[in-house]
Amino acid sequence: MPRTIVEPFRIKSVEPIRWTTRPQREQLLRAAYYNLFLLPADDVLIDLLTDSGTGAMSTHQWAAMMEGDESYAGSRSFERFRDSVQEIFGYKHVIPTHQGRAAERILFSVMCKKGDVVPNNTHFDTTRANVEFVGAEAHDLVIPEGRQPSLKHPFKGNMDIAALETLIQTMGRERVPLVMLTVTNNSGGGQPVSMENVKAVSAVCRKHRIPLYFDACRFAENSYFIKTRERGYESKTPKEIAQEMFCYGDGCTMSAKKDGLANIGGFLCTSDDVLAQQEKNLLILTEGYPTYGGLAGRDLEAVAVGIQEALHEDYLEYRIASTAYLGNHIASHGVPIVQPPGGHAIYIDARAFLPHVPPGLFPGVALANELYHEGGIRSVEIGTLMFGAAAKMDLVRLAIPRRVYTQSHIDYVVEIILAVWEKREQVQGLRLSYEAPFLRHFTARLEPVAAPAAVRT
Ligand code: F0G
Repeated sequence: MPRTIVEPFRIKSVEPIRWTTRPQREQLLRAAYYNLFLLPADDVLIDLLTDSGTGAMSTHQWAAMMEGDESYAGSRSFERFRDSVQEIFGYKHVIPTHQGRAAERILFSVMCKKGDVVPNNTHFDTTRANVEFVGAEAHDLVIPEGRQPSLKHPFKGNMDIAALETLIQTMGRERVPLVMLTVTNNSGGGQPVSMENVKAVSAVCRKHRIPLYFDACRFAENSYFIKTRERGYESKTPKEIAQEMFCYGDGCTMSAKKDGLANIGGFLCTSDDVLAQQEKNLLILTEGYPTYGGLAGRDLEAVAVGIQEALHEDYLEYRIASTAYLGNHIASHGVPIVQPPGGHAIYIDARAFLPHVPPGLFPGVALANELYHEGGIRSVEIGTLMFGAAAKMDLVRLAIPRRVYTQSHIDYVVEIILAVWEKREQVQGLRLSYEAPFLRHFTARLEPVAAPAAVRT
């Protein structure tokens, strides 16, 4: 077998990226208040801020977009979208939304009320915010292995079944309107959930008559991990695995900006007629008519094709191998990462990378800024800035946009990370100079702290 990862596509349209000099980047960092969200994207060479909405579409998707039917009601594009979603997900009602969080807001508004409790393996930040917005509590019940960055486990995204049972017993079944499983577990390192765990969670839910919903953003990557890591699934196709997984649940939310291979879009699915009606009523209020849900007909076409392409085995093989290549390469030089490499991203453990920077001085932000300073790479902190003092880890996520960067781009990223690793002792922490009352990481302003001696005086 050749060892080189060959991208299973060739490039038909190119987008220039721009070099900046180190002095320019110093100035740009200052102007962005040391918050990479505030940088103009043109000043970024390799943008690993997110894998959401940043993918490259295929010729088939662009061709399908020309077939977009922009009728307000009952468009052909909706039918194609619904059929494609139903073939994979299997749920009766498919409700388009402009992205994942719109599906979340509608789902939790309809299913939850104040005082309720929603268990998840790990809530993504918008999911948590939408649960809390309706007055419910969001509980993260990932298995203990999922909280230890350096520990290797094939399915670190699994939910702790005993903890789920205990939560339902102590809170009372009537306070738990639904259980959610995030596949893959983004906030926990892009780690997959096994089919065995899906079945076990589903069994607990069925026993207590609690609906199970998937946060399905990265369902295709999760399916591929099941195929390559779980006994009995080796000869199944990723699509068959996805179909089986979803049959253990009652519905899902989806951001098609990830494994939908689209730049915008999402959906909410349920098999419950009463809920679907309530959800569509809310949809009309803020998103749009139920056959477009805030999307153009052409967007529905792109998603209809994209969710199918994301399940192609050659694509998934390249995708997972390319992410693992980045992770394994830097780890082999001692860089502490969440192990094993995730599906869509590599997460560097910033507390271990910069042990001299305490969590209160945002080691994740300090490291992300240094990667930009050194080589124009943009990543994102998932830690104390994002979650406040509740953060259990300070991670820097390098999320890989789908089908966008080549092997040489990834090699360059490796080089820059290793250069920063060599001079890690010089990297300093930061302090906040402005923060918004919620989701503060998007707009926070920071400033570097002076040398430790100066801080003490
Ligand atoms: N659930 C998960 C697991 C996610 O990763 C995201 C988005 C959402 C829900 C919300 O979807 O952005 O379409 O509204 N994650 C992006 C990220 C933003 O960078 O990880 P959305």
